[in-house]
Amino acid sequence: GRCVVAVDGPSGSGKSTVSRRLAAGLGARYLDTGAMYRAITWAVLRSGVDPADAESVAKVAGEVDLRIGTDPAGYGVTVDGHGVDADIRGPEVTGAVSAVAAVPAVRALLVGRQRDMITTAGRIVVEGRDIGSVVAPDADLKVYLTASEAARAARRSAEDAVDVAATAADLARRDRLDSTRKADPLQQSTDAVVLDTTALGIDEVVTRLRELLTE
Ligand code: CDP
Repeated sequence: GRCVVAVDGPSGSGKSTVSRRLAAGLGARYLDTGAMYRAITWAVLRSGVDPADAESVAKVAGEVDLRIGTDPAGYGVTVDGHGVDADIRGPEVTGAVSAVAAVPAVRALLVGRQRDMITTAGRIVVEGRDIGSVVAPDADLKVYLTASEAARAARRSAEDAVDVAATAADLARRDRLDSTRKADPLQQSTDAVVLDTTALGIDEVVTRLRELLTE
């Protein structure tokens, strides 16, 4: 039957790894909504538009052909036929994505696409910043993953092979932008199960979520 799991939380909370493993274990699809905001940001930068120019950003978002897979074992993201999986993780996109994600027209467009994909999939784990609160308020399970700032920076810096102090500064900057923007700011939905993963391994978190789903 239908099963929608919403996984929200800040960068380095373990969202992506946990969500992919949970989806694979459930035989469900997986949607990385952050990759969609990153892909629009890639298109904005490529077109030479200033990420702070909301009107032009919205125009680019409305014109690009963005495609994303939902296979937890590996999904591809394309923008106008260009494979952008590596580029959307680069520092240029990471530096501009919070500004692009703050544009209400961009959010409206992507939230609509995300809802369509959820309806089509039926069984899906969706990760992001506003899934339990905005995209799928009727999800079967809503989780908010957190971890200490130090743990989050250490994880992200190991993944990206970037200096931990620079990573910590970038995370703090994005947390601030993502939680203070006017349109759908990052926030714990009141009905989400909050899991602090600072001292938990990936398997422990996945096991806990599977328990919550069968409770
Ligand atoms: O993986 P990481 O946590 O670094 O970021 P991400 O999940 O790829 O998301 C990148 C950015 O997209 C975030 O910093 C937010 O600005 C934005 N985002 C959002 O606004 N809403 C979502 N549902 C997902 C991402």
